[in-house]
Amino acid sequence: MTIQWFPGHMTRAKRQIEEKLKLIDVVFELLDARVPESSRNPMIDEIVGSKPRLVLLNKADLADAEANKAWNDHFRSMGLEVLAIDANTGTGVKEIPARVKVLLKEKIERQIAKGMRPRPARALIVGIPNVGKSTLINRLAGRNAAVTGDRPGVTKGQQWIRTGGDLELLDTPGILWPKFEDPGVGFRLAATGAIKEEVLPIEEVACFLLQWLAASYRDALKERYGLADLPEELPDMAAASEVLEEIGRRRGCLGGGGRIDYEKASGVLLRDLRSGKLGRITLEAPGNEPSASS
Ligand code: G4P
Repeated sequence: MTIQWFPGHMTRAKRQIEEKLKLIDVVFELLDARVPESSRNPMIDEIVGSKPRLVLLNKADLADAEANKAWNDHFRSMGLEVLAIDANTGTGVKEIPARVKVLLKEKIERQIAKGMRPRPARALIVGIPNVGKSTLINRLAGRNAAVTGDRPGVTKGQQWIRTGGDLELLDTPGILWPKFEDPGVGFRLAATGAIKEEVLPIEEVACFLLQWLAASYRDALKERYGLADLPEELPDMAAASEVLEEIGRRRGCLGGGGRIDYEKASGVLLRDLRSGKLGRITLEAPGNEPSASS
C-alpha cells in the first residue's frame, strides 16, 4: 500500500486519531523493530498526549535480538512500556493484555474501589503503513477482523473486536505518516519495504543498505554472497556500488552485453534482507542513527 502524504492528509489523520482516542483507554504504538526510530511518527507524543501507551516492536523475528534489547531499554528509559512481538506468528502477543493491566492499574483500582466491575480495556493500534497493524488486529482477534482502507481519510463504521484477555480493539487502526526530513529515514524505510521502491532509486537503497551491513553485519554479508575481500569500510556510494556489482556477478544478475544489472542485484539484496535470509538485522541503533551518505 502506498500513501502519498500531504499536509492535508496528515492533519486529517491526526484529527481522526484524536477522535478515536476519546473512545479508548490505551494506545498501541506499533513500530518496526528493525527501524524503531525511523518507523515512528514525528508527532506521536503530541497526538497521543497523556493517554496510556504501549510501544510494540513488531517484526521482532526479523530484527537483531541484541538490538531488540537495546531498543527495549531505550523506550523504557523514556518512561514507556514496551514489548517486542511478532504479529505473524503471535510470539509475544499473548503478553499484551498483561502489559495493558500494568498501564491501567490505577484506573482499574479506582473502578474497583468505587464498587464498579472493571470493563475490558479498549485499545487502538496506530502506526505507519506496512508496520503490521492489520496482522496484529487479526492476531489478537483470532480471525480476519481488521478493516483496511488504503488511504488515511477512509471512514467506515468502526467496531469493537473482543480479544481473549479483557481487551477490546478498534477494528480500524490509526494510520500515521513516517518522518520525511531525514534522507536516512527514507532509505531505511525503503530497505525494509515500508515505503515502496519506486519512491527512491532501488540501487541507492541497496548501496545505503550495503554501507550499514558492511559496518554492522560484516560476517552475514560476507557469508551470504561469498565476499571474502569485502573492504573494511564502504565510505561512499561508489565503494558500496562496487560491492553491489560483485553481488550481481556472483548471483548472475546480467543485463544486455553481459554487463552487471545493478537493479537486479539490488532486488536480490533487498529480498534477502526482507525475508530474513541475511539473518536478523536491525538498521539503526538507539542514539546512533547514521544519516544517508552520498
Ligand atoms: P499494515 O496493516 O500496518 O499496513 O501492515 P500489514 O498488517 O498489512 O503487514 C504488512 C506486512 O508485514 C505483511 O506482509 C505482514 O505479513 C508482515 N508482517 C506483519 N507483522 C509481521 C511480523 O511480526 N513479522 C514478520 N516477519 N512479518 C510481519 P505481506 O502480506 O507479505 O506484505 P508485503 O510485505 O508484501 O507488503
